[in-house]
Order: sequence, then C-alpha cells, then structure tokens
Amino acid sequence: MRAVQDESITQPRGHVDSPACLTLSGVGKTFGSGAGQTEALGHIDLAVREGEFLAIVGPSGCGKSTLLQIAAGLARPTQGAVHFHGDEVTAPPPGIVYLFQQYGKSLFPWRTVIDNVAFAVEHLAGMGRAEARASSRRYLDMVGLADFAGHYPAQLSGGMQQRVTIARALAAQPRVLLMDEPFSSVDALTRLELHAIVQDLWQKHGFTAVLVTHDADEAVFLADRIAVLSARPSRVVQVLETGLPRPRDRLETPQMPRYLELRHELLAMLLGKRP
Ligand SMILES: Nc1ncnc2c1ncn2[C@@H]1O[C@H](COP(=O)(O)OP(=O)(O)OP(=O)(O)O)[C@@H](O)[C@H]1O
Ligand SMILES: [Mg+2]
Repeated sequence: MRAVQDESITQPRGHVDSPACLTLSGVGKTFGSGAGQTEALGHIDLAVREGEFLAIVGPSGCGKSTLLQIAAGLARPTQGAVHFHGDEVTAPPPGIVYLFQQYGKSLFPWRTVIDNVAFAVEHLAGMGRAEARASSRRYLDMVGLADFAGHYPAQLSGGMQQRVTIARALAAQPRVLLMDEPFSSVDALTRLELHAIVQDLWQKHGFTAVLVTHDADEAVFLADRIAVLSARPSRVVQVLETGLPRPRDRLETPQMPRYLELRHELLAMLLGKRP
C-alpha cells in the first residue's frame, strides 16, 4: 500500500486507461420475497478505476446505499458479483473503508477524539498503542482537529465530529474509501469545508474514492466521473466524465462553463427531464 505520509503524488489518476480496482458485474439485489419483495438494484455494471474519484447519484430509494454496502462486502447481492483486485468480495476486504452518513452513531462516545481515531490504527497489523496514538495525531492534524484530541465527541460540533470520522477512515489507510452521503447532515458552509478537506486528502494520499450523494454540485465539484442511477430497480443510465481541472476551487470552479454544463445535465437527469 502507498505510504500515507507520501504527499508527492501528482500523476494523473483515474484516467480511461487506469485499471479497474473494484468491479460490479450484473449486481442485483432483491429484498424479501413474494408480494412483499422489493427489487432495489436491477442490474448494475460498474468498474471503479484505480485512484479515481467516482460519484454515484440517483433518486431517493433507488438503491445507492445498498449498492455501496454490497461493494464494501457488508451485504451480498442476490445476482452478480463484486471483485476487488480480481478477488470476489464476500466479506469486507482489508483495504476498503466505509464512511457512514451518521457520524453521531459511528463514533464511540466514551472514547476521546484521539482514541476514536487510534481505534482504527490499533487494528492495523503490528502497531502498538503509543505508535497508534502518534499516528492518530497526524490524521487529526490533517483535518484541523489537533487541538481537540482530548475532547469527547459530544463536546464537538457536528462538522467537527464528521471530520473525526474522516480522520479515522484515513487512519485505516484505505485503498478505497466508500462514502455514503457523508456531508448531508452538516450545515452548508461546513459541507464546503469538508469538500475541500476530502479533495485535499484524496489528492495527497492516492486512495480511490467513491461518493454516494444526492447533491449535483457536490458530485460535479468532487468527482472525476459521475455514475447516474435510474429509479428502482436501478441501473446505471449514464457515466459522465467531468474533466474539470484540479485542484478545484470553491469560488472559481463553479464559474467554469464545463461545471455549469455538467450541473445542468445532471440536474435534468435527476429531475427526470432527460431520458
Ligand atoms: N434491509 C432492507 N430490507 C428491505 N428493504 C430494504 C432494505 N434496505 C433497503 N431496502 C429497500 O431497498 C430500496 C433501496 O434502498 P437504499 O437505502 O439502498 O436506497 P438509497 O438510494 O440509498 O436511498 P436514499 O437516497 O434515500 O438514501 C428501498 O426501496 C428500500 O426500502
Ligand atoms: Mg441511502
């Protein structure tokens, strides 16, 4: 795995010729049986490219969370298969980290901020407690929370708690970071700050990012590619290549003609005004 301290990664990532690291082939998921059954995922084919930032958007209830859980090995498909670097995913594989929307539920309230992050680090092979804490401190620094290491989650704002979960996810040294609407429970300004943090960390650390979101602006601002899902039972109806230069700037990028064009196209699809 690439060293997490390496900040020199500048080569283009996620290009057309990058190999796929995570592949969903004909993935379908039906919950229940008989009259009460729900076909959530119809037939999903999707290859996530090594190192890219992929956004997945689609109408509410179309199966985005189900899809991400199946990709993470947290749930099994009823049809098709997921492969991670060629191996079929049947349980959560090392290297894939899942970032949940509900930061409040995913932090341990009885552990301090640094010990919440250290929890992920302690689970990496061969790391003692002192080393885990030193490493955790670096990750807290990256998300601007070094001064809050000794606080408990309840003593932090929602946005700060979500930054702790981001630090903890990175401390686990993901090869692939799967994020299920991780910014939807924070206020609009904090969301923009978290976008900048995630973009920066993704650029520096070289992991592959997959982001599920409802938010067209978030998808266009962060992603290299955007997979658009249909309503349930969902399929991938289109994959848009954003092609916007990086690093993306909060004030400049949204003014670019390409940004506005993508945002318009995406909103039209989400609102059902495009086939
Ligand atoms: N454990 C479950 N048992 C039964 N049905 C489920 C289960 N999980 C999800 N579903 C159903 O599958 C469909 C897809 O749910 P999912 O949560 O994946 O959608 P989503 O796209 O993430 O929605 P949202 O945008 O609201 O987060 C929904 O109709 C939901 O009711
Ligand atoms: Mg969901």
